[in-house]
Amino acid sequence: MTENPSLSNLLKEERRFAPPVELAAAANVTAEAYEQAKADRLGFWAEQARRLTWATEPTETLDWSNPPFAKWFADGKLNVAYNCVDRHVEAGHGERVAIHFEGEPGDSRAITYAELKDEVSRAAHALTELGVQKGDRVAVYLPMIPEAVVAMLACARIGAAHSVVFGGFSADAIAARIKDADAKVVITSDGGYRRGKPSALKPAVDEAVSRVDSVRHVLVVQRTKQDVAWTEGRDVWWHEITRKQSTEHTPEAFDAEHPLFILYTSGTTGKPKGILHTSGGYLTQTAYTHHAVFDLKPETDVYWCTADIGWVTGHSYITYGPLANGATQVMYEGTPDTPHQGRFWEIVQKYGVTILYTAPTAIRTFMKWGDDIPAKYDLSSLRVLGSVGEPINPEAWMWYRKNIGADKCPIVDTWWQTETGAMMIAPLPGVTETKPGSAQRALPGIAATVVDDEANEVPNGGGGYLVLTEPWPSMLRTIWGDDQRFIDTYWSRFQDRYFAGDGAKKDEDGDIWLLGRVDDVMLVSGHNISTTEVESALVSHPSVAEAAVVGAADETTGQAIVAFVILRGTANVEDEGLVADLRNHVGSTLGPIAKPKRVLPVAELPKTRSGKIMRRLLRDVAENRELGDVTTLTDSSVMELIQSRLPAAP
Ligand code: WT7
Repeated sequence: MTENPSLSNLLKEERRFAPPVELAAAANVTAEAYEQAKADRLGFWAEQARRLTWATEPTETLDWSNPPFAKWFADGKLNVAYNCVDRHVEAGHGERVAIHFEGEPGDSRAITYAELKDEVSRAAHALTELGVQKGDRVAVYLPMIPEAVVAMLACARIGAAHSVVFGGFSADAIAARIKDADAKVVITSDGGYRRGKPSALKPAVDEAVSRVDSVRHVLVVQRTKQDVAWTEGRDVWWHEITRKQSTEHTPEAFDAEHPLFILYTSGTTGKPKGILHTSGGYLTQTAYTHHAVFDLKPETDVYWCTADIGWVTGHSYITYGPLANGATQVMYEGTPDTPHQGRFWEIVQKYGVTILYTAPTAIRTFMKWGDDIPAKYDLSSLRVLGSVGEPINPEAWMWYRKNIGADKCPIVDTWWQTETGAMMIAPLPGVTETKPGSAQRALPGIAATVVDDEANEVPNGGGGYLVLTEPWPSMLRTIWGDDQRFIDTYWSRFQDRYFAGDGAKKDEDGDIWLLGRVDDVMLVSGHNISTTEVESALVSHPSVAEAAVVGAADETTGQAIVAFVILRGTANVEDEGLVADLRNHVGSTLGPIAKPKRVLPVAELPKTRSGKIMRRLLRDVAENRELGDVTTLTDSSVMELIQSRLPAAP
């Protein structure tokens, strides 16, 4: 332990996996990239910016004269949609499939780059006809269908910023986001397919729009053909207006710092923050990281990111990064268990997916469903596996590698945030010797470290807070309409450094391990203990599929560790011996300080719609308090289920 332990460092992980020899020999990026970026960070990013096609090449790289307000490539001009679509057609790749769309009911559609160019052009003309101009905002509320990508690119093409609102959010959430961004047009659909049936989207938009003044038109994609209410003069069918437009559209070049999109993050308190991303730097870093971290070979790879377009992962690694790189990708509309629990693996087999990017919450669900399900499919096309969204427990990492990656595919655990816009800390698949559970090292050109309470960098073996010490091209530029909140939230805790809000530690090699949100860190008898480490210790027990750990107020120890666990198929919920066994297992893995006071087997855990565990609600349960805000839960009945299973607290 270090002199000033901001966060105790409990978990030891000795397993190591070298990159596959063949992959390393042909990798897009080698170890040299770290050296090159270290020697000349800005020169490195200036070189990466040349992956893009600029109407006016930038001569400036970074303007940091007014921190924390950055400008990247400020004298350059480009059109983001042109970079994602037209230039691939011009280079002779028009016949390459951009999107293999797989609808939940089983309908499918392949869209080539040439077709995508026509659709984006038509949609751009349609938006112009509806009065959308450069600098305006357009809200997008769509299911996972190709029109979501087309809508985003059409906005980019005419210089309007999109604000995508996740298709599962309520009318309240839509209204708040429309209002904050002052959106003129909303793009939605009649509905989408979810869990085997059509689910309506337009009613929520109708209600939201009735409460705001700014919206002139609602553009409606027809997906399910269900009945919709219609407001004449305001509502317009997407297929009717786009059909009559030209497929020729001249893209205008915008400044590199022209706004590209706003994406709201909810956070735990306060009103959602509108994270603003701009054009040139954002596209440079999403394209570079997608190329480097997935080793994408656009001619041969079939890439699949399972995120929803409503999250930043969908923005950066479905729409912008992959399309800027000319990738062929799969887009899937539905849920992983519709109509059966093998649906993902069936899709991998059907399209010969080579690169898969998904989230720890999904991986733990697949673990729970059983090894026999993926075993029924041919997954031999896979060559790189990615993870994002939460720390991945070492045992979930091992399961992913063995059962999905045939014990050979490198796993890239990618740490980043809505705010960072693109990946920041991740292994390189042809370079890094990977460690289960660690995102490891800042990517070339990125500077990250771990500091203690006094802002001192911790030595290897120490724990504290993750900070980013240099500006990066895809960084958020501000919080929409609230520069002060931007400064207060990210740049005030540690001077001149970006505070990510995550706990982290460095291991003996200096590799970084993410330990969850700082708000979730527990304080037990004077030790800061990470929820992630205790959860990972629980998941390493053969009877546990998933775990969520919270610190509950305790008279003796300040906080006591309370663990909620989902057991694997055969384990018995009523087995008292098992609970004792789990407590001891954590004690022997991490040390007695981390032994949970209570272990409560439950059937489900409360999660946000993006799959993150809502520990705040579990803390309310553990402390016998009334539940806080449950509106961002996927399924609010989960909390009733958990409470009904609980014995009265001691
Ligand atoms: C927070 C950001 C990044 C796109 C999806 C989430 C957590 C994300 C990892 C990872 C450990 C991770 C962090 C971060 N997180 N990826 N690989 N390892 N933690 O974007 O909703 O803005 O959430 O997600 O806590 O701060 P987001």
